[in-house]
Amino acid sequence: MSHQTPGTDRSLVDALTEAAATAGHAPSVHNTQPWRWQVRPDSLDLHAVADRQLTATDPQGRLLALSCGAALHHARVALAAEGWTPVVDRLPDPDRPDLLARLTALRHDGADPAAMRAVQCMRIRHTDRRPVSEDPVPDAAVEEIVQAATAEGVHLHVLDRDQVLALAATASHADTVEAEDPQLREELAYWTSRADTGTGLPPEVLPEQTPQTTVPGRDFGRPGTLPVGPGHDRAARYGVLYGDEDEPVDWLRAGEALSAAWLTATRLGVSLVPLSGVVEMPGTRQTLRQLLADLGYPYLALRMGLADPEHAGPPHTPRLPATQTVDTSAVRDPQR
Ligand SMILES: Cc1cc2nc3c(=O)[nH]c(=O)nc-3n(C[C@H](O)[C@H](O)[C@H](O)COP(=O)(O)O)c2cc1C
Repeated sequence: MSHQTPGTDRSLVDALTEAAATAGHAPSVHNTQPWRWQVRPDSLDLHAVADRQLTATDPQGRLLALSCGAALHHARVALAAEGWTPVVDRLPDPDRPDLLARLTALRHDGADPAAMRAVQCMRIRHTDRRPVSEDPVPDAAVEEIVQAATAEGVHLHVLDRDQVLALAATASHADTVEAEDPQLREELAYWTSRADTGTGLPPEVLPEQTPQTTVPGRDFGRPGTLPVGPGHDRAARYGVLYGDEDEPVDWLRAGEALSAAWLTATRLGVSLVPLSGVVEMPGTRQTLRQLLADLGYPYLALRMGLADPEHAGPPHTPRLPATQTVDTSAVRDPQR
């Protein structure tokens, strides 16, 4: 039985705990889930977990911050669905760079129906690496996805035909370079062979053969068991999330924008797949930057398309149990 700590608003503590658990649905690079939440009586802290950083692929922690940003947005939306609005302090303590965000000063208003719908989308959102269908994504849907990212302070540039070809060449180059690097290969092999731990990528979500695409998806170095069919990504649209600055707080914001864009896409029936290979190496990231006409720093490339309606998509990728990602020790009765 859990007891209330004196002065604790139990409904707030429950909402914070629940939001942190719901954030576990967030996407993360290689499904590393590099986050840990600490629930306090009146605030919620988000920490990065260094043990689950991809030290070879992501030495600066950019993809880690993007992943944690996605989890942060999930938690914010889950709180809004319960009527809670926090003040969000990102990277609040320069001496503790692992403390990525603190949600404080929570105010209770009416539950937000749009946020309630977005929480439903969190439960069904997933990465579908099959080729998209031949049907184009409606322009209005693309525009809504762009707006969702913009509302989080991050730009989403939708590429024109020539830029898609340039992205294709860059992604292909990134794949070749990564395939030749033993450390990167080893890291990928590790995260594609540990799904029984609740992290990483199981074979069921990886294509059984290389899909036919203009822009190659990530080469995971091993075939999975996901049937891809004969489709081609011809009708897919591609975009790049980018911003004016290139600091950890900007990567966190980019992750929040990724989550906002992806949940919007899910609501509109649009499948979204991040393509991070192109931002993992300085050379290809620089090419991507030039492709944006030096407008800003590229954070992530995305594919948008309508999923094949004829065949079932991949199953959900496993997640760590909330007991491993949400620390509630500060709000438990000390006598327990
Ligand atoms: C920052 C980031 C980068 C990602 N990069 C890729 C990628 O390059 N290729 C890919 O197929 N999936 C990529 N993903 C998708 C993850 O692999 C996926 O979110 C994770 O395995 C969890 O699965 P789910 O999205 O189906 O819940 C990325 C996700 C994030 C958040």
